[in-house]
Amino acid sequence: MSTPCSPATLAFLAFLAAVAFPAAAADGNDGMTHLHLYIHETITGANATTALLNGSPLGGNSSFGSLSAIDDELREGSDPTSQYLGRAEGLLVQADLGSPAASCTILSLVFTDGDYNGSTLVVNGRSDFGGDGKAVVERGVVGGTGRFRRARGYSLMTKFGNPTPSTVVFEMELYVKIGV
Ligand SMILES: *[C@@H]1O[C@H](CO)[C@@H](O)[C@H](O)[C@H]1NC(C)=O
Ligand SMILES: *[C@@H]1O[C@H](CO)[C@@H](O)[C@H](O)[C@H]1NC(C)=O
Ligand SMILES: *[C@@H]1O[C@H](CO)[C@@H](O)[C@H](O)[C@H]1NC(C)=O
Repeated sequence: MSTPCSPATLAFLAFLAAVAFPAAAADGNDGMTHLHLYIHETITGANATTALLNGSPLGGNSSFGSLSAIDDELREGSDPTSQYLGRAEGLLVQADLGSPAASCTILSLVFTDGDYNGSTLVVNGRSDFGGDGKAVVERGVVGGTGRFRRARGYSLMTKFGNPTPSTVVFEMELYVKIGV
């Protein structure tokens, strides 16, 4: 038989949960943890965070099969001086014959500061910002490490803007269930 909890007990349990999982406070979206962050990429120059590893073997105007690596900055805000959180490291392969803008991506969000310091999230899937560059890219959160072990969820990304001709900022919303 279950024993009803007194309000004081419930408050104590809530307190324990908050102490054990301070930054994993669910925000009401199906008990999912919500992360809102920005990816800062430098496209060219001495501090480029992205590199084209090979062009398309098809030549011509095709981008099919081209491969890039990224090691972008993860920050709390769109401002390049906002709180640094870690890196977005990954591979992008152009993998759509019909729509050259679409990539198949494998991404690790590597947190080295902030609430999730030491943990990673794995975000994989198709990336296509569309002809006007304004589409929302939805990908699956398929796992993680540390605080994000057995994470499951989804991520939504949009191009936020180009602060300078050689930089691009992406806005990312992640909804993650941890340990499900
Ligand atoms: C690269 O980064 C360093 C360190 O932040 C900075 O001093 C330098 O000016 C940057 N170089 C370019 C080309 O932006
Ligand atoms: C590439 O695209 C341009 C513009 O559509 C076209 O004029 C050119 O012939 C194409 N080049 C090749 C090699 O397909
Ligand atoms: C992040 O974790 C590393 C490794 O445990 C530690 O050295 C560093 O001080 C931490 N940084 C912050 C801001 O907590």
